[in-house]
Order: sequence, then C-alpha cells, then structure tokens
Amino acid sequence: MSTGSPRVLPAEGDLTEAASVLRTGGLVAFPTETVYGLGANALDARAAARIFEAKARPSFDPLITHLADAADLEALVGVVPAGVAALAERFWPGPLTLIVDRPEAIPPIVTSGLATMAVRVPDNEYARQLIATAGVPVAAPSANRFGQLSPTRAEHVVRGLGGAVDVVLDGGPTRCGIESTIVDARGDRPVVLRLGALPVEEVERFTGPVTVRQGSSGQPVAPGTLAAHYAPRTPLRLRDVGAPPVEDGVRRGYLAFRDRPAGGWAAVEVLSTAGDLTEAAARLFEALHRLDAAGVTEIVAEPVPERGVGRAVNDRLRRAAATWHPAG
Ligand code: TXA
Ligand code: MG
Repeated sequence: MSTGSPRVLPAEGDLTEAASVLRTGGLVAFPTETVYGLGANALDARAAARIFEAKARPSFDPLITHLADAADLEALVGVVPAGVAALAERFWPGPLTLIVDRPEAIPPIVTSGLATMAVRVPDNEYARQLIATAGVPVAAPSANRFGQLSPTRAEHVVRGLGGAVDVVLDGGPTRCGIESTIVDARGDRPVVLRLGALPVEEVERFTGPVTVRQGSSGQPVAPGTLAAHYAPRTPLRLRDVGAPPVEDGVRRGYLAFRDRPAGGWAAVEVLSTAGDLTEAAARLFEALHRLDAAGVTEIVAEPVPERGVGRAVNDRLRRAAATWHPAG
C-alpha cells in the first residue's frame, strides 16, 4: 500500500481543480455508475504510465478511455463502425464499453500496444462533468490495486491506493457496483468480452444474438479478464449448493444472495433480501470489502441466479475464487 493520502474532494463541488490536475498529468479517482475509476489524461503517455505504477498493473492490461459525450467518439477516432455507433447511441451514457481502432492521438501505452481501444461514456454526472471540464479523454481502470476488489466508495480508493493518487472525488456509493460490459461490435455479430453491469440479454434485445467469449488466465480476450481477479485478501470459495455448513471452529464469513444462512458463520452479508439481482450487483464488492475486514479466515460465497446482471456477479465470484488454493 502507498504511504500518504490523497486529497478527497466532494464530487458535487467545483470540479475545476480536479480537472486541472487531470489535464496536467495527475491522477484523479472519480465515481462512475459502475465502480470508481483511476483517471489520467489519455493523450498523455506519462500520465497513463502513472496509472500502471499506482495500481501495480501489468503493462499488458489495456485501459478503458472515458469520454464526456457520445458525440466525442467520432471526433476522437474518425469513422466509427456502424455496429459500434448503434450500440453507443442506444446505451451511452451507460455501463457499456465498446471496442474501436486506436486513434493516433491515443498513445500506445493506453491500449498496451493493441491496435484497438476500449471506450465508454459513463452514466455519472460528476464523471462526465470532470471529463468535459478537463477537455481531454480520460483513461481509467477501476481504482484498485491490480487483482483486488473494485472500489464502489471513495473510502475504498483511499484505503487501497493511498497517496499514489493525487485527488479522489467523493460522489458516494456507485449505482451499479460492478464494471461495465465490454462488447466488440465491429463485426457482423457482437462479441461480449467481459460480462458486466449491462445484462447480455439487454444487448441481445437490441442487436440480436451475441457471442459471449470470455477470457481465462491462459488466453484472455479482454486482456484484463484473468481468471484470478477481483479478489478479496481473504481466501474465497464458492459454496457447493446444498452443502451443510462445516463446524470445525474455523472463523468463516458467508456471502448470501437473499436468505440468511443457518449455522455459525462469523460474519454474514446478504446481497438482496428482495432477491433483486441489480441490488445484489450494486452491493457485491461492498459486501466483499466488509467480509474482508471482518477478520475471518475464509469467505464462502453462494452463487446468484445465472441471468441478467447475475451472470456478471457469478463471473466476479468465480474469478475471486480462482485465486484460492487450498493448503496441500
Ligand atoms: O466499469 C468499468 O469499465 C470501469 C470504470 C472505471 O469505467 N473500468 C474498468 O477498467 O473496469 P479495468 O481496467 O478494471 O478493466 C478494463 C478491461 C480489462 O479487462 C481490459 O483488458 C479490457 O478492459 N480492455 C481494455 N482495452 C481493451 C481492448 N482494446 N480490447 C479488449 N479488451 C480491452
Ligand atoms: Mg479492474
């Protein structure tokens, strides 16, 4: 963890200062509708390099470029493929990231040398105002150290990144709580590269059938979708459905979907007592942050129904569980 602490500013205040920090090469963490982003001027290779340093992120994992307005896409990249333009028009601002060719203006470090660039317009007024005021596209991964839980509150960013970030804009808890859905819509049939806050079903209603092609640690398709990712510090394992709780004296935390589990769990988090998947997604990382801080030896997580945004929730749980290696 970095020493020192960033300046925390209210997002509803004057954004001129944060915007000028961004424009002059600094790092500004800001709220989006999905998770907090760690922003840098996407036109500035040195600023982008600071993101990789602050997150201890491998240089092969490209960043998402954020724009204030859908109209800025054409200005930045020139010709936009029809399929991409249609999805942008339908879902931006919103939790959808699209793939386009990397324009000259964006230095290769932002895309980790890829010929393509991931881009989105976040549905958060503060984020869009910040980007518009800075007057530059903003490269921003989730504002956590590489491989760890994504931040859904300003204090998660402060705790995780400390003084490695110059300014944190506090805009309260994020609405979706889970990262954007990444879609490559350049070809005939859209390809989902990362499940996220925009349910695949909603994309399909608009585009027709899509292919869901997700990465694994071996061959990531969105290079950051490594199997072992989004992990709390505490080992996490997925609960076998119907398995009884073990009574062996080990302090375990339990992540439930809607019903409080029976048995002697040291800490329990219920994602949505109403059984609502959107609420569950919004609370996922926050619940994991809390279980992580509860002093338990292991977190046992229950999968949620595999539909809508529930697919993205299960995806994150599986990735978190992939870092867990039972002793022996
Ligand atoms: O909701 C979100 O998308 C958040 C907020 C801050 O906008 N950002 C986010 O960024 O989740 P990050 O860096 O944690 O994840 C970016 C993902 C990675 O999996 C990366 O590999 C993928 O986007 N990506 C970036 N550029 C890509 C490209 N050209 N082609 C395929 N995948 C790409
Ligand atoms: Mg991330």
